[in-house]
Amino acid sequence: MITETRQVLDKRDRPLRDLRISVTDRCNFRCTYCMPAELFGPDYPFLKKEELLSFEELERLAKLFVSRFGVEKIRLTGGEPLMRKDMPELIKKLARIPGVRDIAMTTNGSLLPVYAEKLKNAGLHRVTVSLDSLEDERFKAINGRGVSVSKVLEGIEAAKQAGLGIKVNMVVQKGVNEKDILPMARYFKEKGHILRFIEFMDVGNTNQWNKKDVITKAELIDIIQQNMPVEPIEANYTGEVASRFRYLDGSGEIGVISSVSDAFCASCNRARLSARGELFTCLFAASGYDIRELVRNGLSDQELTDAIGSVWRNRTDQYSIDRTLSKPNGKRKVEMSYIGG
Ligand code: GTP
Ligand code: 5AD
Ligand code: SF4
Ligand code: SF4
Repeated sequence: MITETRQVLDKRDRPLRDLRISVTDRCNFRCTYCMPAELFGPDYPFLKKEELLSFEELERLAKLFVSRFGVEKIRLTGGEPLMRKDMPELIKKLARIPGVRDIAMTTNGSLLPVYAEKLKNAGLHRVTVSLDSLEDERFKAINGRGVSVSKVLEGIEAAKQAGLGIKVNMVVQKGVNEKDILPMARYFKEKGHILRFIEFMDVGNTNQWNKKDVITKAELIDIIQQNMPVEPIEANYTGEVASRFRYLDGSGEIGVISSVSDAFCASCNRARLSARGELFTCLFAASGYDIRELVRNGLSDQELTDAIGSVWRNRTDQYSIDRTLSKPNGKRKVEMSYIGG
């Protein structure tokens, strides 16, 4: 049966285009700004296997998002997505859905030497690897597990060998890794990989965020500009989160993700599915809509489509804009490690 794809708009006229699936809330790192080791210790109640959406459930939902809502882009996140067993199997299922244009994964890179080739063969297009410093002692302190920089660089190299597209994400925190901005820019310019600087955000409730710890997009670009001249360039697509800049010497580009200093909610077309199957319509939401329950209660594809459509149509989220206007809602937020970035 061919079903017509509907364009569903939220209350602020934003379509649904991008589906981000968190496949696990676990991670082998304990980054200070995401899963601080003192809070995510050995007794932390991570989700049990039966609580996670199964690959079959994920495939069914992804098919609906693509065929009924026109989603073209799927990103797999965690926690660390490669902590979930058999990820290539899930990717195979997603890659055969007609209409999926782009399948990407956000990863800390440490397990890529093991999985890169299998992921590529399964149909993954690209990876975005998080790396906050090239200086070992600093990186070990940030990742909270003493993992050295070389481990992540090996992962990036494995992704390159496998033929995966590569971007690198760096969360920048004042007084923590601002010294790494230029060395990171130089290194990845040389390597030919796009580096994106992410302004430190107030996601979750555990990272002690303070606005004074943010290095803004303007400050970042100023630092780069003084050493390696850049100019702004057009977005690749509507709703791209990173503002793009190209090096004037023609050696590639960088991006800045400025959720704090220059919010991009107006074009936010991202839906997020948590590892236990809740639909979140904002990274900063307090709660999600329980889709797993509907799936496990035997609802038909049409009933699921109606439920998802109604969540999206009622969406008003614009947390980052509200933060700029100093009116955050004050509710307890979901943790980033639970719904991915
Ligand atoms: P491309 O598809 O390569 O353009 O990247 P992407 O937009 O999917 O980027 P990625 O998942 O690497 O996002 C980079 C980071 O930006 C995430 O890890 C988050 O930290 C942040 N980010 C992504 N989407 C949003 C969003 O909707 N709101 C906010 N506030 N931050 C976001
Ligand atoms: N602020 C900005 N970026 C963050 N990330 C995780 N927590 C934060 C935060 N508080 C980034 C990670 C990774 C992606 C999933 O989101 O470093 O690149
Ligand atoms: Fe793990 Fe990524 Fe969170 Fe670091 S930022 S703890 S690597 S999920
Ligand atoms: Fe979208 Fe929420 Fe991020 Fe704004 S803060 S861009 S609404 S996820």
